[in-house]
Amino acid sequence: MKRIVILISGRGSNMAAILDAVRTGRIDGQVAGVISNRSEAGGLTTAAAQGVATAVVDHTLSPNRDDFERALAAAIDALSPDLVVLAGFMRVLSAAFVARYEHRMLNIHPSLLPMYPGLDTHRRALADGVKVHGCSVHFVTPEVDHGPIVAQAAVSVHDDDDEASLAARVLESEHRILVAAVGWFCEDLLVIEGHRVRVKDQVTDAEALLVPVLP
Ligand code: GRF
Repeated sequence: MKRIVILISGRGSNMAAILDAVRTGRIDGQVAGVISNRSEAGGLTTAAAQGVATAVVDHTLSPNRDDFERALAAAIDALSPDLVVLAGFMRVLSAAFVARYEHRMLNIHPSLLPMYPGLDTHRRALADGVKVHGCSVHFVTPEVDHGPIVAQAAVSVHDDDDEASLAARVLESEHRILVAAVGWFCEDLLVIEGHRVRVKDQVTDAEALLVPVLP
């Protein structure tokens, strides 16, 4: 069974969705631990309450990024993961760090990549007046929010949306596609071909993830 390590920085609702899917058997894997770069991250309490090992690697206590990443890699590797999931982990990682977990690190991003990489995705989508927004799960590569895409979900933008309402609608889809992607990884169903990812034998399921866009 695959061992999953989840990295968070805050509330941890994506992490909680993974824990829930593991508990209910929708993900055939085990969460070996949750690591946060912020000691006050709410997700740490959620994980600990479910008996999951937690650790904090506080980036503010490291004199530079190299030291922080050395400490983070040590904490991750101590849990011997098959998969590392960045679930709302808000630190940019160096190319060397990313290379260490090549093809076994996933990130959830709140936009339909390659649109809106980086921060403030909902604000930027609203400012542009797009009618369709969404979220993506991708393998992590050195270029931020740019790696091979595993799953995406589209959501419609409503006339009366503000940043909070749009974020809430996207978040529901984040939970769904992240659970699906982690589940596929744990069952060895993901095939990376260049910048494209194929889900072996599961094309229909992958398509079913797309939420119909309403008028
Ligand atoms: C999510 O929208 C994630 O995509 C983003 O930060 C948010 C984290 O939410 N980058 P949570 O901590 O998983 O609740």
